Amino acid sequence: MSMLDISAAAHVPTAPSGLSLPAPETLQQLGQRFTWGVATAAFQIEGANQTDGRGESIWDRFCATPGKVRNGDDGSQACDHYRRWPQDVALMRQLGIDAYRFSIAWPRVQALGHGAWNDKGIAFYDRLIDALLDAGIQPHATLYHWDLPQALQDEGGWLSRVTVQRFAEYAERMGRLFGDRMHSLATHNEPWCTAVLGHETGQFAPGWRDQVAAVQVSHNLLLSHGLALQALRAAGVKCPLGIVLNQSSRSAAKPKDQPAADLAYAKFVRRFMDPLLLGRYPQLDGFVQPTALEGDMALIRQPLDFLGINYYTRLWVSQDGLPPPAELGRTDMGWEIYPDGLRELLVGLQREYPLPPIYIMENGMANADQVVDGQVQDLERVDYLRRHLQALAEAKAEGVDIRGYFAWSLMDNFEWDSGYAKRFGLVHVDYATQQRTPKASFDWYRRTAQATRQGAANA
Ligand code: FCB
Repeated sequence: MSMLDISAAAHVPTAPSGLSLPAPETLQQLGQRFTWGVATAAFQIEGANQTDGRGESIWDRFCATPGKVRNGDDGSQACDHYRRWPQDVALMRQLGIDAYRFSIAWPRVQALGHGAWNDKGIAFYDRLIDALLDAGIQPHATLYHWDLPQALQDEGGWLSRVTVQRFAEYAERMGRLFGDRMHSLATHNEPWCTAVLGHETGQFAPGWRDQVAAVQVSHNLLLSHGLALQALRAAGVKCPLGIVLNQSSRSAAKPKDQPAADLAYAKFVRRFMDPLLLGRYPQLDGFVQPTALEGDMALIRQPLDFLGINYYTRLWVSQDGLPPPAELGRTDMGWEIYPDGLRELLVGLQREYPLPPIYIMENGMANADQVVDGQVQDLERVDYLRRHLQALAEAKAEGVDIRGYFAWSLMDNFEWDSGYAKRFGLVHVDYATQQRTPKASFDWYRRTAQATRQGAANA
């Protein structure tokens, strides 16, 4: 048992008021300069999807297609953040975080994904960024969190190199407008989801089921990242530039499953890490190579100022269909809770790649939260966050350069094909009234961040 191990019983608070909070000094390894944040994404919170000249996105179209999203939910209202953002910034201030990661909705700032820029949409992000800075919160933006302008989809979407070019133009424009106020700009969020869930399994917009297309989309997303980074740097944008990948450690149920686990890891993690950091695709049986034109690999391998990693669970591989042990249970998404996978993943990456500084840009759990007497006792989430932060502290102690952590999510929101049925927030949202109620995890996160800062300062 390492010194960072914790026992759930000793640390889980019993009530939101008068919480017996876990001893935060165990997180001192994260350091005084560690960035504590929360994350959201435009389509999941903004609503107002036909307001002030916003164009249609592929997620609007997907939601409007019967059978694609649970309960027929859509993003037309979401958390109404487009109007309620001052209240949400006030909540973040109350939470005492250092940083906020949000995404810019491309169709809000450029309805068709090319041509005219939408001043009203741009003004929304402009005000948000200024309000964050006034509140002492660093803005971190992601340029693409899955809401492609439908007009670009109609011309081939990510399978077309025209979209790659358009994305670089959009990125450059955002960089010129906001770059001097941003603490980081990421090109893509989780390109694996765009490629595989969007184009291979059809679970996400645009809902294609075409394995060959998915491989090429994956490559084109990387190309668009490289071209965007080039354009941003050529435009003199100085804030840290990077990309956000969803990643997992891999576990083979039995020794005979190891090759399959390695292949699963290659398709999930190495598929992006190898081209970005080594300039090539993995070479192993079963890994399908995309068509790469001359110059593509060099373009993809632009220097990264940071790498964002989203971690939720591990990859579990069993050819006999054995389920993972799930000793710590599963979240409301059905995902196994496996905090040590975060440490294992990071330490493995450190061995395998010349890593830039790392930010955990998302981590959190869906939980069947309920408001009881005006309070939400999401003790499962407190335990989840605590264990993952502990795993992160261990990875840092093992030498990984981890600069920050963003909890997913500030508030409950539109969880893609699950609609509003899954709650990931530190703040509960009643969608009928838009009432926001901070949960026990909100309080725990605030106090843990504060105590860790102080503890690290006094250490
Ligand atoms: C990630 C997404 C994020 C959110 C979480 C639960 O894959 O980036 O938008 O839906 O999962």
